[in-house]
Amino acid sequence: MKDKSAIGLIGLATMGANLARNIANKGFSISVFNRTTEKTDKFIKDFGKESGDKLHGSKTLKEFVASLETPRKIILLVKAGKPVDDMITELSPLLDKNDIIIDCGNSHFKDTERRQKELATRNLHFIGCGISGGEEGALHGPSLMPGGDKSAWEKIRPIFEKIAAKDFGGKPCVVHLGDFGSGHFVKMVHNGIEYAIMQLLAESYDILKNLGKFSNPELAKIFSGYNKNPNLKSFLIEITAKIFAKKDPESSKKDAYLIDFIKDSAGQKGTGKWTTEIAHDLGVFIPTINAAVDARIVSGDTKGRQMCKVLKLTPTAKKLTSSGKKNLITQLENALELSIILCYEQGVGLLTQSSKEYNWNLDLAEITRIWQGGCIIRSTYLKNLTIGLGKDKTAATKIFKKITNLFAGPKQKSWRRLLTLSLESAIPIPAFSASLNFYDSYAKAHLPQNLIQAQRDFFGAHGYERTDKKGSFHTEWD
Ligand code: 6PG
Repeated sequence: MKDKSAIGLIGLATMGANLARNIANKGFSISVFNRTTEKTDKFIKDFGKESGDKLHGSKTLKEFVASLETPRKIILLVKAGKPVDDMITELSPLLDKNDIIIDCGNSHFKDTERRQKELATRNLHFIGCGISGGEEGALHGPSLMPGGDKSAWEKIRPIFEKIAAKDFGGKPCVVHLGDFGSGHFVKMVHNGIEYAIMQLLAESYDILKNLGKFSNPELAKIFSGYNKNPNLKSFLIEITAKIFAKKDPESSKKDAYLIDFIKDSAGQKGTGKWTTEIAHDLGVFIPTINAAVDARIVSGDTKGRQMCKVLKLTPTAKKLTSSGKKNLITQLENALELSIILCYEQGVGLLTQSSKEYNWNLDLAEITRIWQGGCIIRSTYLKNLTIGLGKDKTAATKIFKKITNLFAGPKQKSWRRLLTLSLESAIPIPAFSASLNFYDSYAKAHLPQNLIQAQRDFFGAHGYERTDKKGSFHTEWD
Protein backbone atom coordinates (compact mmCIF):
# COMPACT_ATOMS: atom_id res chain seq x y z
CA MET A 1 0.00 0.00 0.00
CA LYS A 2 1.51 3.32 -1.08
CA ASP A 3 -0.55 5.94 0.72
CA LYS A 4 -1.84 5.85 4.24
CA SER A 5 -5.57 5.38 4.83
CA ALA A 6 -7.84 8.26 5.84
CA ILE A 7 -9.52 6.17 8.51
CA GLY A 8 -9.42 2.71 10.09
CA LEU A 9 -12.08 0.32 11.32
CA ILE A 10 -11.79 -2.55 13.77
CA GLY A 11 -14.43 -5.31 13.83
CA LEU A 12 -15.75 -6.85 10.66
CA ALA A 13 -19.06 -8.30 11.84
CA THR A 14 -22.06 -7.24 9.71
CA MET A 15 -22.23 -3.61 10.89
CA GLY A 16 -18.47 -3.06 10.73
CA ALA A 17 -18.11 -4.67 7.31
CA ASN A 18 -20.98 -2.64 5.85
CA LEU A 19 -19.81 0.62 7.39
CA ALA A 20 -16.29 0.04 6.02
CA ARG A 21 -17.76 -0.55 2.54
CA ASN A 22 -19.89 2.59 2.85
CA ILE A 23 -16.80 4.65 3.76
CA ALA A 24 -14.80 3.19 0.87
CA ASN A 25 -17.69 3.65 -1.56
CA LYS A 26 -17.81 7.34 -0.61
CA GLY A 27 -14.20 7.70 -1.74
CA PHE A 28 -12.24 7.48 1.52
CA SER A 29 -9.37 5.05 1.88
CA ILE A 30 -9.90 2.76 4.85
CA SER A 31 -7.83 0.13 6.62
CA VAL A 32 -9.67 -2.67 8.37
CA PHE A 33 -8.67 -5.09 11.09
CA ASN A 34 -10.40 -8.08 12.63
CA ARG A 35 -9.11 -10.41 15.34
CA THR A 36 -9.62 -13.37 13.01
CA THR A 37 -7.38 -12.71 10.03
CA GLU A 38 -9.41 -15.07 7.83
CA LYS A 39 -12.37 -12.74 8.23
CA THR A 40 -10.28 -9.78 7.06
CA ASP A 41 -8.92 -11.77 4.11
CA LYS A 42 -12.41 -12.88 3.07
CA PHE A 43 -13.74 -9.34 3.40
CA ILE A 44 -10.99 -7.93 1.19
CA LYS A 45 -11.45 -10.79 -1.27
CA ASP A 46 -15.22 -10.17 -1.46
CA PHE A 47 -15.28 -6.38 -1.46
CA GLY A 48 -11.74 -5.15 -2.07
CA LYS A 49 -12.48 -4.28 -5.68
CA GLU A 50 -15.91 -2.73 -5.04
CA SER A 51 -14.56 0.79 -4.58
CA GLY A 52 -11.30 0.72 -6.51
CA ASP A 53 -8.39 0.38 -4.11
CA LYS A 54 -9.94 2.07 -1.09
CA LEU A 55 -10.18 -0.96 1.22
CA HIS A 56 -7.03 -2.33 2.85
CA GLY A 57 -6.78 -5.28 5.21
CA SER A 58 -4.24 -5.52 8.03
CA LYS A 59 -3.09 -8.74 9.63
CA THR A 60 -1.87 -7.25 12.92
CA LEU A 61 -2.94 -4.31 15.02
CA LYS A 62 0.54 -2.83 14.65
CA GLU A 63 0.36 -3.02 10.88
CA PHE A 64 -3.16 -1.55 11.01
CA VAL A 65 -2.06 1.44 13.13
CA ALA A 66 0.97 2.05 10.90
CA SER A 67 -1.29 2.15 7.84
CA LEU A 68 -3.25 5.20 9.02
CA GLU A 69 -2.79 8.93 8.41
CA THR A 70 -2.16 10.96 11.55
CA PRO A 71 -3.95 12.03 13.61
CA ARG A 72 -5.33 8.51 13.32
CA LYS A 73 -9.07 8.03 13.23
CA ILE A 74 -10.13 4.57 14.30
CA ILE A 75 -13.69 3.29 14.39
CA LEU A 76 -14.44 0.44 16.78
CA LEU A 77 -17.34 -1.82 15.93
CA VAL A 78 -16.83 -4.55 18.45
CA LYS A 79 -19.35 -5.98 20.92
CA ALA A 80 -20.40 -3.46 23.58
CA GLY A 81 -19.00 -3.88 27.10
CA LYS A 82 -15.71 -5.59 27.95
CA PRO A 83 -14.61 -6.17 24.33
CA VAL A 84 -14.51 -2.37 23.82
CA ASP A 85 -12.31 -1.90 26.91
CA ASP A 86 -10.10 -4.81 25.88
CA MET A 87 -9.62 -3.36 22.41
CA ILE A 88 -8.83 0.12 23.79
CA THR A 89 -6.27 -1.41 26.18
CA GLU A 90 -4.56 -3.21 23.32
CA LEU A 91 -4.79 -0.37 20.84
CA SER A 92 -3.99 2.74 22.85
CA PRO A 93 -0.29 2.01 23.56
CA LEU A 94 0.24 1.89 19.79
CA LEU A 95 -1.27 5.35 19.26
CA ASP A 96 0.19 8.85 19.30
CA LYS A 97 -0.97 12.08 20.90
CA ASN A 98 -4.21 13.44 19.35
CA ASP A 99 -5.22 10.18 17.69
CA ILE A 100 -8.97 9.55 17.80
CA ILE A 101 -10.90 6.44 18.76
CA ILE A 102 -14.57 6.35 17.74
CA ASP A 103 -16.75 3.72 19.38
CA CYS A 104 -19.72 3.06 17.08
CA GLY A 105 -21.18 0.16 19.08
CA ASN A 106 -24.23 0.29 21.34
CA SER A 107 -22.16 1.17 24.42
CA HIS A 108 -23.60 2.38 27.70
CA PHE A 109 -23.20 6.16 27.89
CA LYS A 110 -21.52 5.98 31.28
CA ASP A 111 -18.85 3.66 29.89
CA THR A 112 -18.31 6.17 27.08
CA GLU A 113 -17.78 9.00 29.54
CA ARG A 114 -15.31 6.92 31.55
CA ARG A 115 -13.40 5.93 28.42
CA GLN A 116 -13.21 9.51 27.16
CA LYS A 117 -11.83 10.69 30.52
CA GLU A 118 -9.31 7.85 30.76
CA LEU A 119 -8.02 8.38 27.23
CA ALA A 120 -7.80 12.15 27.71
CA THR A 121 -5.20 11.58 30.43
CA ARG A 122 -3.07 10.01 27.67
CA ASN A 123 -3.81 12.82 25.19
CA LEU A 124 -6.01 10.58 23.10
CA HIS A 125 -9.45 11.66 21.88
CA PHE A 126 -12.59 9.61 22.20
CA ILE A 127 -15.96 9.82 20.49
CA GLY A 128 -18.95 7.68 21.41
CA CYS A 129 -21.09 7.50 18.30
CA GLY A 130 -24.47 5.81 18.16
CA ILE A 131 -25.24 4.35 14.78
CA SER A 132 -28.64 3.27 13.60
CA GLY A 133 -30.04 1.69 10.49
CA GLY A 134 -29.05 -1.94 10.72
CA GLU A 135 -26.94 -3.53 8.04
CA GLU A 136 -28.63 -1.70 5.14
CA GLY A 137 -28.19 1.64 6.90
CA ALA A 138 -24.52 0.98 7.64
CA LEU A 139 -23.95 0.23 3.96
CA HIS A 140 -26.01 2.96 2.31
CA GLY A 141 -26.32 5.69 4.93
CA PRO A 142 -27.00 5.35 8.64
CA SER A 143 -28.13 7.95 11.14
CA LEU A 144 -25.05 8.80 13.20
CA MET A 145 -25.18 10.16 16.75
CA PRO A 146 -21.71 11.26 17.84
CA GLY A 147 -20.90 12.69 21.25
CA GLY A 148 -17.64 13.46 22.99
CA ASP A 149 -14.59 15.45 22.11
CA LYS A 150 -15.68 18.40 19.89
CA SER A 151 -12.23 19.07 18.40
CA ALA A 152 -11.91 15.42 17.43
CA TRP A 153 -15.39 15.54 15.88
CA GLU A 154 -14.25 18.32 13.53
CA LYS A 155 -11.52 15.97 12.24
CA ILE A 156 -13.88 13.09 11.43
CA ARG A 157 -16.76 15.32 10.35
CA PRO A 158 -16.09 15.32 6.56
CA ILE A 159 -16.14 11.52 6.47
CA PHE A 160 -19.15 11.13 8.75
CA GLU A 161 -21.19 13.72 6.87
CA LYS A 162 -20.50 11.92 3.62
CA ILE A 163 -21.45 8.43 4.82
CA ALA A 164 -24.60 9.42 6.74
CA ALA A 165 -28.16 9.20 5.46
CA LYS A 166 -29.93 12.42 4.42
CA ASP A 167 -32.79 14.16 6.23
CA PHE A 168 -35.93 15.44 4.46
CA GLY A 169 -34.08 18.59 3.46
CA GLY A 170 -31.06 16.72 2.10
CA LYS A 171 -28.76 17.47 5.04
CA PRO A 172 -26.63 14.65 6.51
CA CYS A 173 -28.20 12.77 9.41
CA VAL A 174 -25.29 13.44 11.71
CA VAL A 175 -24.40 16.23 14.09
CA HIS A 176 -22.15 16.56 17.12
CA LEU A 177 -24.58 16.15 20.01
CA GLY A 178 -22.59 17.12 23.07
CA ASP A 179 -19.76 16.03 25.31
CA PHE A 180 -18.98 12.63 26.83
CA GLY A 181 -21.70 9.97 26.58
CA SER A 182 -24.35 12.20 24.97
CA GLY A 183 -24.15 10.43 21.59
CA HIS A 184 -24.62 7.00 23.09
CA PHE A 185 -27.38 8.35 25.33
CA VAL A 186 -29.27 9.69 22.32
CA LYS A 187 -28.83 6.33 20.56
CA MET A 188 -30.11 4.54 23.67
CA VAL A 189 -33.24 6.74 23.70
CA HIS A 190 -33.65 6.07 19.98
CA ASN A 191 -33.67 2.37 20.82
CA GLY A 192 -36.16 2.90 23.65
CA ILE A 193 -38.52 4.52 21.15
CA GLU A 194 -37.76 1.69 18.71
CA TYR A 195 -38.79 -0.87 21.34
CA ALA A 196 -42.03 0.99 22.08
CA ILE A 197 -43.10 1.36 18.44
CA MET A 198 -42.22 -2.27 17.70
CA GLN A 199 -44.33 -3.40 20.65
CA LEU A 200 -47.28 -1.25 19.50
CA LEU A 201 -47.01 -2.87 16.09
CA ALA A 202 -46.86 -6.33 17.66
CA GLU A 203 -50.01 -5.56 19.67
CA SER A 204 -51.68 -4.26 16.49
CA TYR A 205 -50.86 -7.58 14.84
CA ASP A 206 -52.42 -9.45 17.77
CA ILE A 207 -55.59 -7.36 17.60
CA LEU A 208 -55.99 -7.63 13.84
CA LYS A 209 -55.21 -11.33 13.79
CA ASN A 210 -57.16 -12.51 16.82
CA LEU A 211 -60.01 -10.03 16.95
CA GLY A 212 -60.26 -9.08 13.30
CA LYS A 213 -59.37 -12.59 12.08
CA PHE A 214 -57.37 -11.13 9.22
CA SER A 215 -55.07 -13.39 7.22
CA ASN A 216 -51.38 -12.66 6.63
CA PRO A 217 -51.90 -11.25 3.12
CA GLU A 218 -54.70 -9.05 4.54
CA LEU A 219 -52.40 -7.90 7.34
CA ALA A 220 -49.75 -6.99 4.76
CA LYS A 221 -52.34 -4.87 2.95
CA ILE A 222 -53.61 -3.21 6.14
CA PHE A 223 -50.13 -2.22 7.27
CA SER A 224 -49.27 -0.96 3.77
CA GLY A 225 -52.42 1.16 4.05
CA TYR A 226 -51.33 2.53 7.43
CA ASN A 227 -48.04 3.45 5.85
CA LYS A 228 -49.86 5.92 3.60
CA ASN A 229 -50.99 7.93 6.64
CA PRO A 230 -48.49 10.83 6.91
CA ASN A 231 -48.38 10.51 10.72
CA LEU A 232 -47.57 6.80 10.46
CA LYS A 233 -45.39 6.55 7.35
CA SER A 234 -42.24 4.95 8.67
CA PHE A 235 -39.59 2.34 8.17
CA LEU A 236 -40.97 0.10 10.93
CA ILE A 237 -44.49 -0.01 9.45
CA GLU A 238 -43.08 -0.55 5.97
CA ILE A 239 -41.08 -3.60 7.07
CA THR A 240 -44.01 -4.91 9.14
CA ALA A 241 -46.17 -4.99 6.00
CA LYS A 242 -43.40 -6.82 4.14
CA ILE A 243 -43.01 -9.37 6.94
CA PHE A 244 -46.65 -10.47 6.62
CA ALA A 245 -46.24 -10.98 2.91
CA LYS A 246 -43.19 -13.23 3.25
CA LYS A 247 -43.77 -16.90 2.43
CA ASP A 248 -41.92 -19.52 4.46
CA PRO A 249 -38.84 -20.56 2.47
CA GLU A 250 -38.60 -23.82 4.45
CA SER A 251 -42.12 -24.95 3.74
CA SER A 252 -43.37 -26.84 0.73
CA LYS A 253 -46.93 -25.56 1.27
CA LYS A 254 -47.81 -22.67 -1.03
CA ASP A 255 -49.71 -20.60 1.52
CA ALA A 256 -47.30 -21.02 4.46
CA TYR A 257 -46.15 -17.66 5.79
CA LEU A 258 -42.86 -17.29 7.62
CA ILE A 259 -44.32 -15.21 10.48
CA ASP A 260 -46.36 -18.23 11.60
CA PHE A 261 -43.20 -20.30 12.09
CA ILE A 262 -41.33 -17.80 14.27
CA LYS A 263 -41.27 -18.32 18.05
CA ASP A 264 -43.25 -15.78 20.09
CA SER A 265 -40.42 -14.75 22.43
CA ALA A 266 -38.15 -11.77 21.79
CA GLY A 267 -34.76 -11.11 23.32
CA GLN A 268 -32.90 -7.87 23.82
CA LYS A 269 -29.30 -6.74 23.90
CA GLY A 270 -29.71 -4.08 26.60
CA THR A 271 -30.43 -0.61 25.26
CA GLY A 272 -34.17 -0.87 26.00
CA LYS A 273 -33.51 -1.96 29.56
CA TRP A 274 -30.96 0.84 30.04
CA THR A 275 -33.55 3.37 28.84
CA THR A 276 -36.00 2.26 31.53
CA GLU A 277 -33.28 2.26 34.19
CA ILE A 278 -32.14 5.79 33.40
CA ALA A 279 -35.71 7.08 33.13
CA HIS A 280 -36.33 5.81 36.65
CA ASP A 281 -33.09 7.38 37.86
CA LEU A 282 -33.98 10.73 36.30
CA GLY A 283 -37.66 10.55 37.24
CA VAL A 284 -39.02 10.63 33.69
CA PHE A 285 -42.36 8.98 32.83
CA ILE A 286 -41.85 6.70 29.81
CA PRO A 287 -44.58 4.09 30.31
CA THR A 288 -44.78 2.85 26.70
CA ILE A 289 -41.05 2.15 26.57
CA ASN A 290 -41.20 0.44 29.98
CA ALA A 291 -44.14 -1.65 28.80
CA ALA A 292 -42.26 -2.67 25.67
CA VAL A 293 -39.27 -3.86 27.70
CA ASP A 294 -41.57 -5.79 30.04
CA ALA A 295 -43.42 -7.33 27.12
CA ARG A 296 -40.17 -8.77 25.78
CA ILE A 297 -39.36 -10.09 29.25
CA VAL A 298 -42.69 -11.89 29.64
CA SER A 299 -42.51 -13.23 26.09
CA GLY A 300 -39.17 -14.82 26.97
CA ASP A 301 -40.52 -16.37 30.19
CA THR A 302 -41.40 -19.61 28.48
CA LYS A 303 -41.62 -21.53 31.79
CA GLY A 304 -43.99 -19.03 33.37
CA ARG A 305 -46.08 -18.98 30.26
CA GLN A 306 -46.87 -22.65 30.80
CA MET A 307 -49.57 -21.19 33.08
CA CYS A 308 -51.76 -20.98 30.01
CA LYS A 309 -52.45 -24.66 30.66
CA VAL A 310 -54.21 -23.88 33.96
CA LEU A 311 -55.33 -20.26 33.76
CA LYS A 312 -58.58 -19.83 31.92
CA LEU A 313 -59.48 -16.81 29.84
CA THR A 314 -63.08 -15.70 29.61
CA PRO A 315 -63.15 -13.43 26.60
CA THR A 316 -66.51 -11.96 25.82
CA ALA A 317 -65.72 -10.31 22.51
CA LYS A 318 -68.30 -10.83 19.83
CA LYS A 319 -67.42 -12.08 16.42
CA LEU A 320 -66.96 -8.98 14.31
CA THR A 321 -69.25 -8.33 11.39
CA SER A 322 -67.66 -7.20 8.13
CA SER A 323 -68.38 -3.55 8.99
CA GLY A 324 -67.00 -4.22 12.50
CA LYS A 325 -63.82 -5.52 10.89
CA LYS A 326 -63.61 -2.42 8.72
CA ASN A 327 -64.09 -0.22 11.78
CA LEU A 328 -61.39 -2.14 13.59
CA ILE A 329 -58.86 -1.25 10.88
CA THR A 330 -59.66 2.46 11.25
CA GLN A 331 -59.80 2.40 15.04
CA LEU A 332 -56.43 0.70 15.12
CA GLU A 333 -54.97 3.21 12.71
CA ASN A 334 -56.13 6.04 14.98
CA ALA A 335 -54.87 4.31 18.10
CA LEU A 336 -51.51 3.61 16.48
CA GLU A 337 -51.17 7.18 15.31
CA LEU A 338 -51.75 8.69 18.75
CA SER A 339 -49.78 6.02 20.60
CA ILE A 340 -46.72 6.28 18.37
CA ILE A 341 -46.67 10.07 18.65
CA LEU A 342 -46.50 9.58 22.42
CA CYS A 343 -43.52 7.22 22.08
CA TYR A 344 -41.54 10.04 20.48
CA GLU A 345 -42.87 12.38 23.16
CA GLN A 346 -41.57 10.11 25.91
CA GLY A 347 -38.16 9.91 24.26
CA VAL A 348 -38.00 13.69 23.96
CA GLY A 349 -38.97 14.00 27.65
CA LEU A 350 -36.08 11.75 28.61
CA LEU A 351 -33.64 13.66 26.42
CA THR A 352 -34.77 16.98 27.91
CA GLN A 353 -34.21 15.78 31.45
CA SER A 354 -30.87 14.10 30.70
CA SER A 355 -29.60 17.24 29.03
CA LYS A 356 -30.28 19.21 32.21
CA GLU A 357 -28.88 16.53 34.49
CA TYR A 358 -25.64 16.01 32.57
CA ASN A 359 -25.23 19.57 31.18
CA TRP A 360 -25.16 18.38 27.60
CA ASN A 361 -27.17 21.24 26.16
CA LEU A 362 -28.81 18.88 23.69
CA ASP A 363 -30.42 20.42 20.62
CA LEU A 364 -33.65 18.43 20.43
CA ALA A 365 -34.60 19.78 17.01
CA GLU A 366 -31.28 18.57 15.63
CA ILE A 367 -31.68 15.16 17.26
CA THR A 368 -35.09 14.62 15.68
CA ARG A 369 -33.69 15.93 12.40
CA ILE A 370 -30.89 13.34 12.30
CA TRP A 371 -33.52 10.65 12.99
CA GLN A 372 -35.37 11.62 9.80
CA GLY A 373 -33.23 9.37 7.62
CA GLY A 374 -31.27 6.14 7.93
CA CYS A 375 -32.36 5.05 11.40
CA ILE A 376 -34.86 2.45 12.52
CA ILE A 377 -37.39 4.96 13.90
CA ARG A 378 -37.33 7.20 10.84
CA SER A 379 -40.79 8.46 9.93
CA THR A 380 -42.43 11.42 8.24
CA TYR A 381 -43.89 12.48 11.61
CA LEU A 382 -40.37 13.44 12.75
CA LYS A 383 -40.63 16.49 10.51
CA ASN A 384 -43.27 17.86 12.91
CA LEU A 385 -41.05 17.23 15.89
CA THR A 386 -38.09 18.99 14.31
CA ILE A 387 -40.24 22.08 13.71
CA GLY A 388 -42.00 21.76 17.07
CA LEU A 389 -38.68 21.68 18.92
CA GLY A 390 -37.00 24.28 16.71
CA LYS A 391 -36.09 27.92 17.18
CA ASP A 392 -38.97 29.34 15.09
CA LYS A 393 -41.47 29.76 17.93
CA THR A 394 -44.43 30.67 15.67
CA ALA A 395 -43.95 27.51 13.61
CA ALA A 396 -43.46 25.48 16.79
CA THR A 397 -46.71 26.78 18.31
CA LYS A 398 -48.56 25.95 15.11
CA ILE A 399 -47.30 22.37 15.21
CA PHE A 400 -48.10 22.05 18.89
CA LYS A 401 -51.68 23.17 18.18
CA LYS A 402 -51.97 20.75 15.26
CA ILE A 403 -50.86 17.83 17.42
CA THR A 404 -52.99 18.70 20.44
CA ASN A 405 -56.01 19.08 18.14
CA LEU A 406 -55.30 15.63 16.74
CA PHE A 407 -55.56 14.23 20.24
CA ALA A 408 -58.66 16.24 21.09
CA GLY A 409 -60.58 15.08 18.01
CA PRO A 410 -62.47 11.86 17.20
CA LYS A 411 -59.27 9.80 17.06
CA GLN A 412 -59.12 9.79 20.85
CA LYS A 413 -62.56 8.21 21.07
CA SER A 414 -61.64 5.51 18.62
CA TRP A 415 -58.37 4.90 20.53
CA ARG A 416 -60.34 4.23 23.73
CA ARG A 417 -62.88 2.04 21.92
CA LEU A 418 -60.14 -0.06 20.38
CA LEU A 419 -58.47 -0.63 23.74
CA THR A 420 -61.78 -1.59 25.36
CA LEU A 421 -62.46 -4.08 22.59
CA SER A 422 -58.99 -5.61 22.96
CA LEU A 423 -59.24 -5.93 26.74
CA GLU A 424 -62.67 -7.58 26.42
CA SER A 425 -61.10 -10.07 24.08
CA ALA A 426 -58.20 -10.85 26.45
CA ILE A 427 -55.62 -9.44 24.07
CA PRO A 428 -52.73 -8.06 26.11
CA ILE A 429 -52.09 -4.45 25.09
CA PRO A 430 -49.45 -3.20 27.54
CA ALA A 431 -47.98 -0.60 25.18
CA PHE A 432 -51.29 0.74 23.89
CA SER A 433 -52.59 1.01 27.47
CA ALA A 434 -49.38 2.68 28.60
CA SER A 435 -49.62 5.29 25.85
CA LEU A 436 -53.21 6.07 26.75
CA ASN A 437 -52.31 6.21 30.45
CA PHE A 438 -49.49 8.59 29.55
CA TYR A 439 -51.98 10.86 27.82
CA ASP A 440 -54.61 10.64 30.54
CA SER A 441 -52.09 11.25 33.32
CA TYR A 442 -50.99 14.51 31.74
CA ALA A 443 -54.44 15.52 30.51
CA LYS A 444 -56.14 15.21 33.90
CA ALA A 445 -56.01 18.16 36.25
CA HIS A 446 -56.05 15.89 39.31
CA LEU A 447 -54.36 12.59 40.00
CA PRO A 448 -55.19 10.43 43.03
CA GLN A 449 -51.74 10.77 44.57
CA ASN A 450 -53.18 12.85 47.44
CA LEU A 451 -54.20 9.44 48.80
CA ILE A 452 -50.62 8.14 48.44
CA GLN A 453 -49.38 11.12 50.43
CA ALA A 454 -51.95 10.43 53.12
CA GLN A 455 -51.07 6.72 53.28
CA ARG A 456 -47.35 7.46 53.56
CA ASP A 457 -48.01 9.89 56.35
CA PHE A 458 -50.37 7.42 58.05
CA PHE A 459 -47.92 4.52 58.26
CA GLY A 460 -44.58 6.27 58.17
CA ALA A 461 -45.09 9.89 59.29
CA HIS A 462 -43.56 10.95 55.97
CA GLY A 463 -45.53 14.20 56.00
CA TYR A 464 -47.73 15.61 53.26
CA GLU A 465 -48.19 18.86 51.40
CA ARG A 466 -51.53 20.70 51.40
CA THR A 467 -53.35 22.41 48.58
CA ASP A 468 -54.25 25.46 50.66
CA LYS A 469 -50.99 26.32 52.44
CA LYS A 470 -47.25 25.84 52.07
CA GLY A 471 -45.11 23.50 54.18
CA SER A 472 -45.02 19.88 55.26
CA PHE A 473 -47.75 18.56 57.55
CA HIS A 474 -48.25 15.49 59.65
CA THR A 475 -51.44 14.09 61.15
CA GLU A 476 -52.09 11.43 63.79
CA TRP A 477 -54.46 9.49 61.55
CA ASP A 478 -55.74 6.71 63.76
C1 6PG B 1 -30.48 0.32 15.14
C2 6PG B 1 -30.85 -0.82 16.03
C3 6PG B 1 -29.63 -1.63 16.34
C4 6PG B 1 -29.94 -3.01 16.89
C5 6PG B 1 -30.61 -2.96 18.21
C6 6PG B 1 -31.33 -4.20 18.54
O1 6PG B 1 -30.80 1.42 15.52
O2 6PG B 1 -29.91 0.08 14.08
O3 6PG B 1 -31.39 -0.34 17.21
O4 6PG B 1 -28.78 -0.89 17.14
O5 6PG B 1 -30.72 -3.72 16.01
O6 6PG B 1 -29.62 -2.72 19.13
O7 6PG B 1 -31.48 -4.16 19.87
P1 6PG B 1 -32.14 -5.30 20.68
O8 6PG B 1 -31.36 -6.56 20.40
O9 6PG B 1 -32.01 -4.86 22.08
O10 6PG B 1 -33.54 -5.40 20.17
